[in-house]
Amino acid sequence: MSHSTSIQPTAEALQIMNETLEGQTPQEILASAFGDYGPHIILACSFGAEDVVLADMLFRQQPNASLFYLDTDFLFPETHQVREQISTKYGLKADQIIQMKSLLTPEKQATTHGEALWAHKPDECCQHRKLEPLERVLTNYTAWITGIRRDQSPTRANAKIVEWDNKFQLVKINPLATWTGEQVWAYIHANEVPYNALHDQNYPSIGCTHCTAPVLPGEDPRSGRWKHVEKTECGLHPNKTEHEKE
Ligand code: ADX
Repeated sequence: MSHSTSIQPTAEALQIMNETLEGQTPQEILASAFGDYGPHIILACSFGAEDVVLADMLFRQQPNASLFYLDTDFLFPETHQVREQISTKYGLKADQIIQMKSLLTPEKQATTHGEALWAHKPDECCQHRKLEPLERVLTNYTAWITGIRRDQSPTRANAKIVEWDNKFQLVKINPLATWTGEQVWAYIHANEVPYNALHDQNYPSIGCTHCTAPVLPGEDPRSGRWKHVEKTECGLHPNKTEHEKE
């Protein structure tokens, strides 16, 4: 891996790309993204429902593509299980499945920043465990692919299929932006894609063990994330609402 500099497309170029891609399937969007950015493009994979769909679509058409996962040291055992299943199913080589960890071990974090930082200062915990390693891995690429969907939350309602990620200074592709949760699950079942077993135990959205709780039927699917505090995003994706359109 080498440091890559992403060139920011103009607003007009982005608009034209989005007008073209809006009516396309996620598979077509991925193919076009690889045409534009491969091999300097990577899938950000939490092994949640959306991301296993993207992994399936991606490795069927680009067997040499790669993904990274932010291993916060607080992932559920079920998350590691699905990672192994995905790796086996698509025959991924070690360099296609990049583990990104914080520079701080959980022990070092506790001695330096205090015990149970996630409970006292969750933003700071996300910063050490997710954002710093994310920033580090993204410097090697010109585009990243994520599984965000518009109907996941008001902060994602305005997500575009192709965006300039101002925070991390590279192109961001959201091939499932227009998909519903039902479409995601229909794809998983139709294609027998391995998925996180916690999804069958009332965990629609899965992050770290300390900050992810099950939700009741009918509750907002993301309401199990950071349930103990006023927080809905960890900072990977900007907190944009409908009123803050670019
Ligand atoms: S989060 O920002 O609140 O954690 P969410 O779990 O909905 O987000 O995931 C949204 C997208 O962010 C995923 O589809 C994936 O692309 C990326 N992402 C989230 N968590 C991780 C992770 N641990 N490793 C890699 N990518 C992740």
